[in-house]
Amino acid sequence: MNVLYVTANPKPEANSYSLQVGRALVEAVKQAQPEIEVVELNLFEQPVPEIDGDVLAAWGALQEGKSFAELTASQQAKVGGMNAVLEQFLVADRIIFATPMWNFGFPPRFKAFIDAIIAAGRTFKYTENGPVGLVEGKKLIHIIASGGIYSHGPASAVAFSDKHVRGVLGFIGVKDVQTVWVEGTAMVGPAQAEEIKEAAIAHALELVGAFLQEAVAH
Ligand SMILES: Cc1cc2nc3c(=O)[nH]c(=O)nc-3n(C[C@H](O)[C@H](O)[C@H](O)COP(=O)(O)O)c2cc1C
Repeated sequence: MNVLYVTANPKPEANSYSLQVGRALVEAVKQAQPEIEVVELNLFEQPVPEIDGDVLAAWGALQEGKSFAELTASQQAKVGGMNAVLEQFLVADRIIFATPMWNFGFPPRFKAFIDAIIAAGRTFKYTENGPVGLVEGKKLIHIIASGGIYSHGPASAVAFSDKHVRGVLGFIGVKDVQTVWVEGTAMVGPAQAEEIKEAAIAHALELVGAFLQEAVAH
């Protein structure tokens, strides 16, 4: 079994709640299954190319029958970079995302990652009855750190990072999604914020057993 751990935070781990909870979860997963392979993708060290004019033109050319080698060097780098991330995602049995909440969503680099894993013919396909997801057997834990509270109450309506991940990953077939909130840390003093982090770590560790169990087909 292997795990893909995707982070999208320019801060050092020691200054980030999402990364600290993510690290605790990764360590617990390794402890529970020492033979497990964890691949880390830090999107601030290895950004995923964004969809731009070059990428759209390249996709168009490929669809018209051009080969990858016939694309421009820039198109090859961008489409190749996106495809490499897609392959990394496809081979992962389990996925962990750790993202800070930025303006009710996640950092743009995480959106670029999401864009790379939504691929017609690879992660979803069109059928007579509409699109269907092609991804099977994966489970996901998404850690979200936010200054305010979004898991419940009035602000839950604008918890877009959670809704986005659940919506898009569900679209491609990843339905087993757990969210770990590290939230409300800006509304309290440092000691209480530490307690919130510890509670989030405890929640994440509670999920490890089910996360590593074999996935049930939906
Ligand atoms: C650019 C930016 C935007 C933010 N937007 C929000 C927000 O919309 N809601 C919120 O509750 N906190 C917001 N915050 C606060 C962060 O979500 C909070 O500091 C969180 O702990 C960040 O995660 P991290 O500790 O893993 O870096 C924002 C912080 C930054 C830097």
